[in-house]
Amino acid sequence: MPNVLVLGGSGYLGLALSKSLVASGNYAVWGSARTPEKSKLLAQNEISPVEDDITNAGILETIIVKNDINIVVDTTSAYEQAAQILQGVTQAAKTRRDALAKEKAVGPKLGFVYCSGMWIHGSQSVRESDLTPAGTSLSKGKPATAVAWRPAHEQAILAARDVLDVAILRPATIYGRGSWVWSTWWGGILKAKQSGNNTDVIQIPADVQARNPTIHVDDIAAGFHAAIDRIDGRLGAWPVFDLVTETIGVQDITEAVKGALGVTAPVEYTGTQGNPFFEALSLVSKADASRARTVLGWEPRRTEFLLNIAIYVRAWEAAQ
Ligand SMILES: NC(=O)c1ccc[n+]([C@@H]2O[C@H](COP(=O)([O-])OP(=O)(O)OC[C@H]3O[C@@H](n4cnc5c(N)ncnc54)[C@H](OP(=O)(O)O)[C@@H]3O)[C@@H](O)[C@H]2O)c1
Repeated sequence: MPNVLVLGGSGYLGLALSKSLVASGNYAVWGSARTPEKSKLLAQNEISPVEDDITNAGILETIIVKNDINIVVDTTSAYEQAAQILQGVTQAAKTRRDALAKEKAVGPKLGFVYCSGMWIHGSQSVRESDLTPAGTSLSKGKPATAVAWRPAHEQAILAARDVLDVAILRPATIYGRGSWVWSTWWGGILKAKQSGNNTDVIQIPADVQARNPTIHVDDIAAGFHAAIDRIDGRLGAWPVFDLVTETIGVQDITEAVKGALGVTAPVEYTGTQGNPFFEALSLVSKADASRARTVLGWEPRRTEFLLNIAIYVRAWEAAQ
């Protein structure tokens, strides 16, 4: 049974993935946690907690080697430490390779799965697949300001393939359960519900033409799970995958959320106001996940975001 270490294992995406791996019966799972409460949450879910500082390359290398980890998954939002995390993973891979070389032996590469994101495409002028290297002159979109650093990090991961088996997965905006990202657009509508306001204008910090790529958290976990199952050389020559189920305009989403919360107040789209996070949410996406389906054998099960939105809004409201 391979050992998988999920960095960010107590996070929104990381926990869903870790639970999926545990439930398969095919993996022993370790997860990083930064507080005793989150360690307890992991332990309760049959995930071995790691409380050490995983953003320190030396410490991460030791954790990987000591626990005989076969695959590391970075689902953290430790953006400023992304390079140190990659360094820790590659150091561990080299340490293992060099130790085997002394015995004149070889072994499988260490696996590394990185969670990137769809914002890396920016607003695409034409439809473009994940075969186009994001952030390069070949790409028709410019990465959102908030993730301007990410194309170089994706390239650094791909360049480490001499010692690592890698996969880069790019989730769309994730919904389901806590759905924290959506608070930016849905927060004002919930406030209107709570105050009983059905006349004052609700301001939504988005461009009216925004078209969001969306996906359920369980489908994201399934996409990562499929890549982990195939990390040992079965991902082809370009192991980079967009994961998206539907792209939906902000106005359709807003009206559906208003309906779910019973709010009839008018809405004004106030633009992105120079805020990099608002800007990223307001991109116009033309992405699809055809390669994830053909190469990973991935099929999303939670489709029809708008049709089922009352369920997701209720879960999000309960998590506030
Ligand atoms: N949510 C989305 O819609 C979405 C869409 C596309 C891409 N993504 C990407 O998915 C990844 C995970 O996002 P998420 O929504 O799951 O976020 P999240 O719930 O905030 O989880 C992030 C995880 O990273 C951990 N973390 C953050 N900084 C850290 C540090 N310095 N050292 C160690 N651990 C650290 C957090 O630990 P604590 O719990 O202790 O804070 C948490 O476990 C991110 O890379 C994000 O860019 C997310």
